[in-house]
Parts: sequence; C-alpha cells; structure tokens
Amino acid sequence: MLVNATSMLRAAKAHHYAVGHFNTNNLEWSKAILLGANETNSPVIISSSAGAGKYMGGFKTVANMVRCLDEFLQIKVPVALHLDHGTYDACKACVEAGFTSIMFDGSSFELNENIAKTKELVNLAHNKGLSIEAEVGAIGGTEDGVTADGEVANPKDCAKIAALGVDFLAAGIGNIHGLYPKDWKGLNFEVLEKINQVTNKIPLVLHGGTGIPDKQIIRAIKNGISKINVNTDCQLVFAEAMIKYCAEGKADATLDNVDKGYDPRKLLKPGFEAIKAKVIEKIKLFGSENKADDYLNF
Ligand code: 13P
Repeated sequence: MLVNATSMLRAAKAHHYAVGHFNTNNLEWSKAILLGANETNSPVIISSSAGAGKYMGGFKTVANMVRCLDEFLQIKVPVALHLDHGTYDACKACVEAGFTSIMFDGSSFELNENIAKTKELVNLAHNKGLSIEAEVGAIGGTEDGVTADGEVANPKDCAKIAALGVDFLAAGIGNIHGLYPKDWKGLNFEVLEKINQVTNKIPLVLHGGTGIPDKQIIRAIKNGISKINVNTDCQLVFAEAMIKYCAEGKADATLDNVDKGYDPRKLLKPGFEAIKAKVIEKIKLFGSENKADDYLNF
C-alpha cells in the first residue's frame, strides 16, 4: 500500500529504529525492494533519483510501475515512493506523477534561498498529501554525476529548515554517497547530537548508507536517525551476482546451453535475489522488521 513517509518515520523515531530508503533503477530493483520489505513485515521507502527516473522512462513510468507492482505482488506493508535529491522542478514533476514523498535538495543554495524554495514546496507537498524531506549541508561523494565534498551541517541552519514544516531532515554529518575512502573519519556524532536537540524531534535522515560500519549505524539511530538511504550496496551485490552468473557460462550463446540462461528472466534473477537479500539484511540491521503497522498510531 502506497502511503507518504511521515507517519512511518515518526513511528521509527519514537521507537528508536530506522526505515530503509532504497533507490530503484528498474523493474527487478523495484520488485526486490518491495518483496524484501514484505517478507520482513517492514515499512519501506522506495526511491528514484532524477537520473534513475529519466533512465526508467520518466517519473510517471516509475510511479505507475511501483503502484502496479505493489498491487500485483499484494504487498501488505506500507511503502512510500520518494524522490531522492530533487531539484525544485523535479519535486513539482513528482507531485504530478503520483509520488507520495519528495526530497528537495536545496543544499547548493545559500540558506535564504533554500528556505524560500523549501517553504513553497512544503505547501505544495502537504496540500497534495505528500511528505517532504529537506537537506542542510551537502552530502559528499558522487550521485547522478554531481560531486560534493562531505559537509558537516550547522545545527542552527538545521533548526531553521526544520521549523519550515518539512517532515524529515537530511543533515550532513561527514557521510558521503558511494564508497568511503580508507581514511574516512567516520560520522560526526557530536554534531548529530546537537542537530537532534535543536530540531524538535523531527526524524533525521542519513544519506550514504553504504559502507558505514554497523556500530555507527546503531549509534546514529540512537541519536535520532530514522531513515537511512542505501543505493551503492544494492548496485554492488547486483553486479557481483551478474558477473558470477556470466562467468559460470550460464548465459553463453551455445546450443549446449539447454537451460537458455540468456533468457533475461533467468539472467537477471541472481541480481534480483542479491538485492532482495541485501534489503532484508539492512532492514534487520535498521531494526524495522515487524514494524509494518507502527505507522497507524502516528
Ligand atoms: P549510497 O549510495 O552511499 O548507499 O547512498 C545512497 C543515498 O544516500 C541516496 O540518497
């Protein structure tokens, strides 16, 4: 069932766990995320960046695919369909396309402009029943071809943006998208604690969920993180499973290949299974297993 992400994240914050946000790239990805969440009876956020949306044939295609899969697969857990790192225009397009949640990434604007645009989009999203995430302090790394250094957000700026009525807030605390360099200093818990104190119990979001040691994930959840974004991890296990399958000769174009392992439904299956297993692993780590109904009370 598609819902916005507000109640599920308030429930997560109140009960000290986090809901996994998993980026989708295609049909297999979407099925794996939905089925992984359903199997663990967990709320889930399935998300598309603008780049992935373009790749999949536009935001309407993404929205219809996820809605139809949700119905066809008889998914029983709450699912939010979210725009990841949206520009102002992408946010508007996703509201129209039938997403249930958007993220406005105004982190590249100076604070006053970020505030003005965020305010406008909060009104738009709430009028249409969507939830909205805002960001303070650019998350480092490269995503959709955009590279930023990991920033540590100013808690005072976080308080200002949180007060605009956004439903959850992403704040840079030294986290980066993609793989972490060997000399990465780790998450800045001192700043996270301050942000958590000054943002009036709003659920906080941790981007760059791939490669953060489990102990730091658990500590982050204890300090107010209620949504954790994972993308690269799923890409890595998908690629690894596909490479193994092909290296074993299962997709070979020979008459001996009586199983016809080159059939896309067989070829993509190991990658699908690997993503599903990764989603289940993360849901268990984040503590949202069997929390599907929590959102009903928030
Ligand atoms: P990773 O690719 O590092 O898992 O980060 C995902 C993310 O933060 C999407 O917004």
